[in-house]
Amino acid sequence: MDTEQDVTGEPPRSAPYYAPAGDEAGLFEQAAKHDLPVLIKGPTGCGKTRFVQYMADRLGRALYTVACHDDLTAADLVGRHLIGPAGTFWQDGPLTRAVREGAICYLDEIIEARKDTTVILHPLTDDRRMLPLDATGECLHAAPGFMLVVSYNPGYRNLLKGLKPSTRQRFVALSFDYPAPAVEQQIVAHEGGVDADTAHTLVKLAGALRHLGGHDLDESPSTRLLIHAARLIRAGVDTLTACTACLAEPLTDDLTTRAAILDVVRAHFAVAPARAPMRTSIRTSIRTPIRAI
Ligand SMILES: Nc1ncnc2c1ncn2[C@@H]1O[C@H](COP(=O)(O)OP(=O)(O)OP(=O)(O)O)[C@@H](O)[C@H]1O
Ligand SMILES: [Mg+2]
Repeated sequence: MDTEQDVTGEPPRSAPYYAPAGDEAGLFEQAAKHDLPVLIKGPTGCGKTRFVQYMADRLGRALYTVACHDDLTAADLVGRHLIGPAGTFWQDGPLTRAVREGAICYLDEIIEARKDTTVILHPLTDDRRMLPLDATGECLHAAPGFMLVVSYNPGYRNLLKGLKPSTRQRFVALSFDYPAPAVEQQIVAHEGGVDADTAHTLVKLAGALRHLGGHDLDESPSTRLLIHAARLIRAGVDTLTACTACLAEPLTDDLTTRAAILDVVRAHFAVAPARAPMRTSIRTSIRTPIRAI
């Protein structure tokens, strides 16, 4: 299969760590109990995937995860005939396996998938809970426990992409955002392995940068980026270098914005400001010969 897929089909080995924002786990459990599919929206790196892993573990169900993209075909989800030494044989795709086994199938960034791909989800996500396999002539009824979960990042939406109302209106929808500061601090400390003070400063820094979002900064720093910075700091990398590599560089290519982010980092970690005279002297030394010419 030439599609990029992360298909495990195994329950995660150790219970995934997940810090709740509210009662999203309770709501998910109710949806699971009543055979309702779930749609999770939220910005990148805010905990959508981790939540689904946690819920699969909590419900004791296997999890099939598919990272959707615009080349994903229905066959990548459902399965296809392959040629082997003994002739052609049918191989289930991750969706079909989840339907047969009563597992959770998680379609990450569903909005990237082609429209014809999402249409095959319709009979599965209403009362019928059916998956017709045109290629084999079978019509599968989802085993008890089967659940479809999809997610997308509303920030990436454009006019050409987006779920059709007939698809959207099949799901119980949960809206995720970056966790509240106290929860995010706990997550950064746990996942990044740093002390509470460092986690607190990183989260405050993220708050300041998120405040700039939409004005000077196009993207907001995710919880994921804070964890990356925390891990480098924990490994002994100095805070400015860690925040440059994990926050400033991933967030922008614009040098002025990058410098502004680093000023905010310096202010939060009490790092001495960049030495302006040095920059001036470099510029002067470059300009001087030009003037002389
Ligand atoms: N509530 C949370 N509890 C525990 N860890 C969290 C939580 N939120 C975020 N994280 C941490 O942040 C990382 C990124 O989260 P995750 O991969 O779930 O983001 P996502 O929303 O799926 O992002 P994307 O849209 O880019 O796929 C996780 O690996 C985890 O370490
Ligand atoms: Mg994800």
